[in-house]
Amino acid sequence: MDATYLLDTATEAARAVGPRLRAAFRSRPGVATKRDFHDPVTEHDRAAEDTIRSVIGARAPHSAIVGEEGGTTGSGDLVWYVDPIDGTANFAAGLPFFCVSIAAAVRGELVAGVVYDPVRGDEFTATTEGAWCNGEPLRSAGATGDREAMLLSSYPTPLDLDEDGDVALRRYGRFLESFSAVRKPGSAALKLAHVAAGWSDAAYGTRSHPWDVAAGALLVRRAGGVYLGDPLVKGDYLAHVGGFDLERSVLAEVAPRELSPGGPPAPPAR
Ligand code: IPD
Ligand code: CA
Ligand code: CA
Repeated sequence: MDATYLLDTATEAARAVGPRLRAAFRSRPGVATKRDFHDPVTEHDRAAEDTIRSVIGARAPHSAIVGEEGGTTGSGDLVWYVDPIDGTANFAAGLPFFCVSIAAAVRGELVAGVVYDPVRGDEFTATTEGAWCNGEPLRSAGATGDREAMLLSSYPTPLDLDEDGDVALRRYGRFLESFSAVRKPGSAALKLAHVAAGWSDAAYGTRSHPWDVAAGALLVRRAGGVYLGDPLVKGDYLAHVGGFDLERSVLAEVAPRELSPGGPPAPPAR
């Protein structure tokens, strides 16, 4: 199976749930919670993941699927990372910033990914060959420094506050003072797609799962931006448009170090 076949599979699966998500959006669906009351889930998360799993299962039966709602099933060199709704809190409330995120990795290397925004109809796609939005090539370019840049940051989350306390609030304060604007839009995958498109300049998040960031990481990298962190392992990530000066940025203090040899200093232990 080549990257194009894998991308076609991912886009078919993402499109298959578009009608359901659009119909349910702003219907105020019932919300249950998972880890705690900050972690909502709806019947549509589970149903959408089931649909995505059947499309993938029909087109690529000998593969593993790692889904947020259904866990890991199957096995093989080919692994799919599926977030049926990234930004469930937004979806459930009626705020139009959520997406479907699906990525394929072969023997640990990302080869295809889609981030699909069913409200705007934006389909962000990437393979090892490039990145596109609705078929148009993406170029991750924009601000070169903090003062002109728009930062999309989920930090600090309630878990960050639990762990980092005042350190988190002071760090967030430095973000607010240093950047032209800081936003907390609430979907890691769609944030990364927007950085890939150059619609925002940087994105930062903590404790992200592969289903949150795998497709977005491939988008950013193939669009010419920078993604730091390992998207296939749960952890923190930092992404920015190509040409952004990370070393002079306040974000240098949180930059994941392992993928930036010789780059900015390691973040303080968390
Ligand atoms: C969440 C969103 C959010 C990020 C969280 C994720 P979900 O995913 O991506 O922006 O800060 O870490 O869990 O629960 O809406 O799929
Ligand atoms: Ca998610
Ligand atoms: Ca989700």
